This record gives sequence, C-alpha cells and structure tokens, in this order.
Amino acid sequence: MNEAAFASPAEADLVDTLRCESTPIVSLVGAENEIVVGHILFTPATLDGQPRLRLMGLGPMAVAPSHQRRGIGSALVRAGIDACAAIGTEAVVVLGHPSFYPRFGFAPSHRFGIGCEFDAPPEVFMVLELAPRALHGVSGTVHYHAAFKGV
Ligand SMILES: CC(C)(COP(=O)(O)OP(=O)(O)OC[C@H]1O[C@@H](n2cnc3c(N)ncnc32)[C@H](O)[C@@H]1OP(=O)(O)O)[C@@H](O)C(=O)NCCC(=O)NCCS
Repeated sequence: MNEAAFASPAEADLVDTLRCESTPIVSLVGAENEIVVGHILFTPATLDGQPRLRLMGLGPMAVAPSHQRRGIGSALVRAGIDACAAIGTEAVVVLGHPSFYPRFGFAPSHRFGIGCEFDAPPEVFMVLELAPRALHGVSGTVHYHAAFKGV
C-alpha cells in the first residue's frame, strides 16, 4: 500500500522498520470488499525533558491511488486517534499538510512551544491533545524513531 501511494519505497521500508522496532504501535488498514485500500501507522515519539509523556507520531499514512479522496484517509485518522486514546496516549503529533489535519483537531505545535527535529515550516508540524492539558507547561523538540531520518 505504501509503495503504491508514495513515489519511492522509502515509506514502505520505514513502516517495516517501525513495525519491528517500535512499541507500542497503532497500525490500521482500511478495506473494501476485503481488499486493503489504506494503511495508517502511529509510533511513539518523545518530547525533550518529558520522558513520561505518552506521545505518538502519526505516519506514514497511505491510501491506494485508485481510492483517494473518498474519505478513507480521514476514517483512518479518526480510527487511529481513537485507538491511540484507548492505549493511553496523551497527545499525537503529525508532520503533514496544514489543510488536512486541523479537521481532526490538530493545531500547529508552535502554539504549545513545541517544535520538530526536522527542517520543516512551522505550520506543518501539528499536535493533538488527547488528555486534557497534556501539553500544558511543556515545550521543546519532538523526536521520532531514528528510522524517520532516512526518509
Ligand atoms: C494523504 C492521503 C492519505 C489522504 O487519503 P484520502 O483517502 O485521499 O483522504 P480523504 O479522502 O479522507 O480526504 C481527502 C482530503 O485530503 C486532502 N489531501 C489528500 N492528499 C493530499 C495531499 N497530498 N496534500 C494535501 N492535501 C491532501 C484533500 O485535499 C482532501 O481534502 P478536501 O476534503 O478538503 O478536499 C492520500 O491522498 C495518500 O495516500 N497520499 C499519498 C501518500 C501521502 O502523501 N501520505 C501522507 C503523508 S504520510
């Protein structure tokens, strides 16, 4: 699925690595007539100085090109957020398109004083609190699994 949706196999390889090396993970597929048409992955991330904060990073996410823009990606994001909440996740971060993720409640992380380890425009790194005030009084840089650096 990831190979089909992205221009290179890098994201698919990243998913393989994260599935082996990250715990816990939330990994969901969307299916139509028992055929997989989408996938979303959430893996742990860390915020500087907050080792107890239960933070998950959204991504990669992929929907089959033939099935994009039908709401499958949105359904995966919503189901993934619910699954993260169910395992006690306090906040979710995402590096993604600023017109897509705010509809799920994500807000630019810089409003919380939180940044990203990657060189990206500030509006594309977003955060969603799942536990009330989980990010109150915290700040710093979020770090993903090292495998993200290769993508
Ligand atoms: C991004 C992706 C997962 C969205 O899945 P989807 O099933 O098409 O999404 P939905 O149908 O739920 O929502 C469509 C919305 O996503 C937006 N969208 C889709 N791809 C987008 C992109 N590359 N950039 C910005 N917005 C995008 C559309 O503008 C649309 O918004 P609208 O409802 O205002 O028109 C899918 O397009 C995809 O797999 N793209 C290639 C891989 C990728 O870029 N993954 C995300 C980065 S990890």
